[in-house]
Amino acid sequence: MVGFDMASNATKASLPSAKNSANSILNLVQGDPTVFEPYWRDQGDKCTLVISGDDLMSYYSDYGNICWFLQPQLAEAIRNIHRDVGNAVVNGRHIVIGTGSTQLFQAALYALSSPAGPEPVTVVSSAPYYSRYPEEIEFLSSRLYKWGGDANTFDKDGPYIEVVNSPNNPDGGSRHAVVNRRGGRLIHDFAYYWPHYAPITAAADHDIMLFTLSKCTGHAGSRIGWAIVKDIEVAKKMIKFVEFNSLGVCKDSQLRTAKILETISNEFSNLGSTKTGNFFEYGQRLMAERWRKLREVIKRSKVFSLPKYPKEYCNFFGEFMESHPAFAWLQSNGSMDAEILLRTHKMMVKGGKCFGVDPKYARVSVVGREEDFNLFLERLSAII
Ligand SMILES: Cc1ncc(COP(=O)(O)O)c(C=O)c1O
Repeated sequence: MVGFDMASNATKASLPSAKNSANSILNLVQGDPTVFEPYWRDQGDKCTLVISGDDLMSYYSDYGNICWFLQPQLAEAIRNIHRDVGNAVVNGRHIVIGTGSTQLFQAALYALSSPAGPEPVTVVSSAPYYSRYPEEIEFLSSRLYKWGGDANTFDKDGPYIEVVNSPNNPDGGSRHAVVNRRGGRLIHDFAYYWPHYAPITAAADHDIMLFTLSKCTGHAGSRIGWAIVKDIEVAKKMIKFVEFNSLGVCKDSQLRTAKILETISNEFSNLGSTKTGNFFEYGQRLMAERWRKLREVIKRSKVFSLPKYPKEYCNFFGEFMESHPAFAWLQSNGSMDAEILLRTHKMMVKGGKCFGVDPKYARVSVVGREEDFNLFLERLSAII
């Protein structure tokens, strides 16, 4: 059985990276970040963790922290990686850990809405928006919040929540809040604000910032996300949500995450430098190479185009750089349905409608394994 929304339309398709034959359907729907596997394979035993039978048995991690289920080593590793990369302010902020940033997104919605409100608070995000926002918001028909669609057309008075996803999934663009009205609360989803995807232009400093190990290092299976939160009362409500939802977060995963993040931080202090450079250098080179090859194919295409990303100064790398997003946001020239067109060439992708825009757009993952990416380029070249 294939997981999450792959299940609906992928039963006959191969899983990403399952051996693809000339006739199999290539699944490029999910941003499953297996692209970084070779890097971690090369690290050998550096990230190996031994957990004995009597380790980590208690529910509790840190009695002195409002986030009582957060392992102190992980809290420190998270603060260190943000200081190393310079992508978020962590001093004086609260860290809330979650089972992926998916859980923390819902925790944030809970924390920012009020059971005493006369009606559910409206949640908006600029289209094209991450397709899971409306799905997760509508899933339980909550009395607390409801989906309000594209933030660009939102014009109601009163409380609202705007989700700002930057760099944005699906189109890779840099984003800021657009509604900017009284009564608004913001959730910043920074899943992709890491140097291998986009220039780090400033240390972000917003009320609630969501990050995830899934897109940072590629360890999506560990299901670890974290929120950096300014206000202690908001942090406490988010912690309450995680407590009621899952009574904490797997400690085994937390320790593995701490180990992986420490390995990267050690590379910066030269304690563990490798022949491939630090993880973000490796990731940036790899993503830049994929995008170079993809743009080569698109340059010859009369059917598809791709967005252009401006060069911006990256404080992390100390030079002007373009973004190399985790997804290619393909636009079919003319009014063809991009998802259907790609499907007829045995590529399964997500069409624009899921993201609140025209079906002439489609989102294609470019963070899968090498063989899938190469097959994607081969099949895309054939449409041209
Ligand atoms: C924009 C965005 N936010 C959040 C997530 C969820 O991440 P996690 O694996 O931490 O639940 C994803 C995953 O694809 C994403 O693209």
